[in-house]
Amino acid sequence: MAQAMVQVMVQVNAQSIFQNTAQSRAQGENNKAKGGVIVVGEALLDIFPSRTVVGGAPFNVACSMAALGADACLITRLGNDANGDLVRAGAARFGVGLNGLQTDAVRATGTVQVRVTATENHFSIADDQAWDYLDLQPALDAIEGQRAKFLYFGTLAQRSKQSRDTIRYLADRFGGQFGGRVYLDLNLREMPDIRAICKDSLALADILKVNEEELRTLLEWFGESSAAPLPWRSENFRAAVTALIKKFALTCLIVTRGAKGYAYFDVHGSLQIEGDAVKNVAVADTVGAGDSFSAMFLASQVQGLSLDESLARASELAAAICGINGAVPPSRDFYARWCPPEAGHASADDVKNAASQPERQTHG
Ligand SMILES: Nc1ncnc2c1ncn2[C@@H]1O[C@H](COP(=O)(O)OP(=O)(O)OP(=O)(O)O)[C@@H](O)[C@H]1O
Ligand SMILES: [Mg+2]
Repeated sequence: MAQAMVQVMVQVNAQSIFQNTAQSRAQGENNKAKGGVIVVGEALLDIFPSRTVVGGAPFNVACSMAALGADACLITRLGNDANGDLVRAGAARFGVGLNGLQTDAVRATGTVQVRVTATENHFSIADDQAWDYLDLQPALDAIEGQRAKFLYFGTLAQRSKQSRDTIRYLADRFGGQFGGRVYLDLNLREMPDIRAICKDSLALADILKVNEEELRTLLEWFGESSAAPLPWRSENFRAAVTALIKKFALTCLIVTRGAKGYAYFDVHGSLQIEGDAVKNVAVADTVGAGDSFSAMFLASQVQGLSLDESLARASELAAAICGINGAVPPSRDFYARWCPPEAGHASADDVKNAASQPERQTHG
């Protein structure tokens, strides 16, 4: 009985919060230049053999978006510990909205052991961490009154039931009823029930971002044609992509293709935009290439830029991130060339802080 009441209260609050969001959007003073992104999921510490940095795809995306001048509200859960303080400080330094940072009294801030080889990054993700316990009501409180245009989520944070329920509630209500656009960056990792998690996540998404390999996995899992990999330009491939978009009622599909660039398929499955990656990048590592692509795409869309421009800028930032170690640069100065003047970038201070703050980056 008590549980049912709690559930009802949560729903009532959620309704008014999302209505507020929708009303503010409808009132929409200068909606083109304003409005932000709610980012929900994991923030954690990536432990490399030689260094430890703050990361997690949602954390990376929120930091890059904030540095690009977009309002980014990060909803995650941290331990009451020193690692949690590193995440809080990192998010603050990039201008990420902190209202959504929950503190768990019992579980530790998440950690991931990372092994980088010449060809791949390997992640060993600790179990039962603070980010597995995302609480719904504080998340709703944090986004109250936000004029968010997009909600970003991924699959990893859905490995536990509690975070999965919270994320799905937010995505469902944000997208379905109140007109925000739900952006899913799949970032497929091996974990139990991943196929079902993908299926349910795709059903909640408007915009799906995958890399080429992830797309092939989805076509194999959910496509109607043969499991054999289909050549990129073949008719069968196009038909399979169209079927995927229709099956999950996506409004579009963005496919990143590493050094081969990117593609944008519209609601009908037509290949509307295709772009090359930036050439001759001196790649330090490709960690976070997809995260920075998503961050720039969303920040540009929030700022009212065209699709073509949003994608081209996403590709530029992703290439620049490939040129440095890690997913997020040490200073916000790095983003200055893509920022509208009103974004108000601290420069000298950032550089000073960078020297005194722990190194950041991470796994995407
Ligand atoms: N070697 C490269 N040179 C130039 N640009 C690159 C390179 N690798 C990646 N990019 C850019 O980064 C974008 C995203 O890369 P990729 O397709 O590898 O994403 P991803 O697999 O989602 O990355 P992540 O590991 O962060 O999840 C590409 O579309 C491209 O614009
Ligand atoms: Mg990715």
